[in-house]
Amino acid sequence: MIVGMFRCKLQQTILMFREKVNFRKGVKRLAEWKYFIDPDVEHVLVFQSGTKFFEYEIYLNRHILLMDKASCLPCLALSPSPGSIVLDACAAPGNKTICLANYLKNQGTLYAIEKNRRRFKELNTNLRTAGVKCAQTFNDDFLTVSLPFDDIDYILLDPSCSGSGIRNRTDDPEVIDEERLERLAALQIRMITYALTNFPKIKRLTYSTCSIHRQENEDVVETILDQFSDQFQLVDFLPNWPSRGQTERTHACLRASPDETLTNGFFVCCFERIIKLDA
Ligand SMILES: C[S@@+](CC[C@H](N)C(=O)[O-])C[C@H]1O[C@@H](n2cnc3c(N)ncnc32)[C@H](O)[C@@H]1O
Repeated sequence: MIVGMFRCKLQQTILMFREKVNFRKGVKRLAEWKYFIDPDVEHVLVFQSGTKFFEYEIYLNRHILLMDKASCLPCLALSPSPGSIVLDACAAPGNKTICLANYLKNQGTLYAIEKNRRRFKELNTNLRTAGVKCAQTFNDDFLTVSLPFDDIDYILLDPSCSGSGIRNRTDDPEVIDEERLERLAALQIRMITYALTNFPKIKRLTYSTCSIHRQENEDVVETILDQFSDQFQLVDFLPNWPSRGQTERTHACLRASPDETLTNGFFVCCFERIIKLDA
């Protein structure tokens, strides 16, 4: 299944699935070039996988952004309203940055940071061609960049991960490298810790990976909860989503997979600041 996010109107039949129970059947039955409005994620249209957008103007002019539905979930969890100040900490190639700009209706401030120079160029090209006007991009390291970030409302953190969720069924079986997973998890924990500690006004932070491994997902979230549960709690932002975090404390996290949600393998959670009422 692929999803498109539109900046213009399509002259085509829209099939709306009001009953979520029909979703899987609906996706499987979709005829070529028919689409429906996704029942979970705003702004998203669902097309049959394999729809060949690549030769069409609508894609070439970037009136549509092609994304896996699961990748839209972090932006949905934040849903920043126009005028908000948002930070995309690991931004390239920029799909989620574009998605955030769409929520902001191009109004507000969207800081997009990318450490890798080549991917930073790609990020800028993609934002420009998608018509994003509210972003300020930085070729820098999220963990050391020094900018006036005190007013940031929302952070989207989608750091480097093993990528185990985007393997094809035809690929050789993954050889699991425990040491690499440990290194990745340590960096992921460091980045979330940094974000929750250094941005005094953030209301929400999403953490996401395209990994299926517990070490980069539930284990990371549990470590953060051990440290921050007096200040931040997990938000259950799509309570009817079928695939959940695999431990009791991470039930509010969402998992996604080709079999259960017709998407890539993905993991996302949303931390929200606990508002303490003064005694
Ligand atoms: C999973 S990709 C992000 C995908 C992106 N969010 C999207 O949806 O298009 C992770 C990105 O984070 C960048 N990155 C890794 N560590 C970083 C850091 N410390 N600061 C900024 N960017 C970083 C990587 O170079 C890579 O481009």
